[in-house]
Amino acid sequence: MLKTPIVVVNFKTYPESTGERAVQLAKIIEQVAQDYSASVAVCPQHADIYRVSREVSIPVLAQHVDPLKPGRNTGWVTPASVKAAGAVGTLINHSEHKIPHDQVKQVVDLCRSKELVTIVCTADVEESKGLAAHSPDFIAVEPPELIGTGIPVSKAKPEIVSGSVKAIQEVNSSVQVLCGAGITTGEDVAKAVELGTVGVLVASGIVRAKDQRAAIEDMVRALPK
Ligand code: G3P
Repeated sequence: MLKTPIVVVNFKTYPESTGERAVQLAKIIEQVAQDYSASVAVCPQHADIYRVSREVSIPVLAQHVDPLKPGRNTGWVTPASVKAAGAVGTLINHSEHKIPHDQVKQVVDLCRSKELVTIVCTADVEESKGLAAHSPDFIAVEPPELIGTGIPVSKAKPEIVSGSVKAIQEVNSSVQVLCGAGITTGEDVAKAVELGTVGVLVASGIVRAKDQRAAIEDMVRALPK
């Protein structure tokens, strides 16, 4: 359901990507994706999934879901609800929203039964290896200490990226690998692909950029054709 190579943009809870501004940013990203015939997906907050997915045709993912079926679960977020809101998948286990590994498996299985794509986030090679066994569609390795720093994982800690690619391949070769943390330029993206990934998971480098269009353009241009 997600074409690769890909840039996945996590909107987090930044003001620049909340509410109507989430729609504006998603439209900019959609335009760039069309101009360059590139695959780009966006992850707005739950409250913005519906409004964003109604306005753009690029894939929209949730930032998290809980391993729950519809029913008596006040305040929790089911895979069924994000799908009904227009999401085609979800991030899980982001370093800003960690969950126990057995719950990662439950979410992956539940999402698969609903035909929702799963991007499981990991912090290092060990966690990548462990969670590959749960067969998500993607694993995005993101060392937490580099998140939001502008210091790209693909250059600062290439061994975590290539090590995760290798470890994941050994456990389950159908899991595709992304990396993230500190990615801000096309060069960072090119390096990530060189290390064996099928793309990047990025947030501040686009959301907080002075020129959001230029930032996403630079990254998308670096994706292999
Ligand atoms: O989910 C993406 C993320 O955690 C990386 O954040 O701001 O370093 O691109 P950032």
